[in-house]
Amino acid sequence: MTEDIISKEIIMEGLETRLIGKTVVYYSSVTSTNDVARDQAKKGAEEGTVIIADEQIAGKGRLKRNWMTPAGNIALSVILYPDISMLPSLIMITSLAVVRGIEAATGLKPGIKWPNDVLVDGKKVCGILIENDLQGNRVNHTIIGIGININIKQEDIPGIHYPVTSLSAESGRAVSRAGVIRCLLVEMEKLYLTLSEGGTVFEEWRDNLVTLGKKVRVTWGETVYEGVAESVAADGSLVLRTKDDKLIPVVAGDVSLSHY
Ligand code: BTN
Repeated sequence: MTEDIISKEIIMEGLETRLIGKTVVYYSSVTSTNDVARDQAKKGAEEGTVIIADEQIAGKGRLKRNWMTPAGNIALSVILYPDISMLPSLIMITSLAVVRGIEAATGLKPGIKWPNDVLVDGKKVCGILIENDLQGNRVNHTIIGIGININIKQEDIPGIHYPVTSLSAESGRAVSRAGVIRCLLVEMEKLYLTLSEGGTVFEEWRDNLVTLGKKVRVTWGETVYEGVAESVAADGSLVLRTKDDKLIPVVAGDVSLSHY
């Protein structure tokens, strides 16, 4: 198998976006692409700048967890300066862009596990970490961090408590990282522009959720709710119907959710 090399030039070759990926900065190894992107945003990097690394040695996940990115997978962060009204929809456009991008590049059919994961065949293939820097009602910057497993195997991530897979394992063949990245950036630009022009992505996002109708357990600090994921609201929150028939709205923030 030939080595799946990525570089700024390889990624930008034939990338037909105007905003997202107009500037790409590639590193062979970083602590976290989100941290590098944050530092660049503070220095005034242009909107749509993408920071990509072959390997992260201190990758960050949600809920202060670690995120492993051994070489050969995808770790990237996109710098955006959205209006504050767009914040609840950013997770929708990001997870949808990952779904559409993976499908375009590999033919696989991923689904979204509320709030932030993309699964293939019920196993996690992508995690998303969105970090906002707010000042009152103003967004100084938003960093959209996306980690996609291209080659990782369950045994590469000891101690992980949920099923994990990779695009090469699911498709049964080698997957080009640059191909996936280009498809992802193209879809992200389309969806971000839709949102910036006042359009909505809610219905498509909702229709791609694999969580709805499932029995779920939501953990929020010490509080645990169990029930059926009944619907989602336009702000992205999940409506849970508990065993005693109460409807509980769950905001993405600091919750973790498992299907059972
Ligand atoms: C999660 O599922 O907990 C979110 C994982 C997010 C990982 C990505 S990899 C690129 C970016 N840089 C980071 O340090 N984290 C995000």
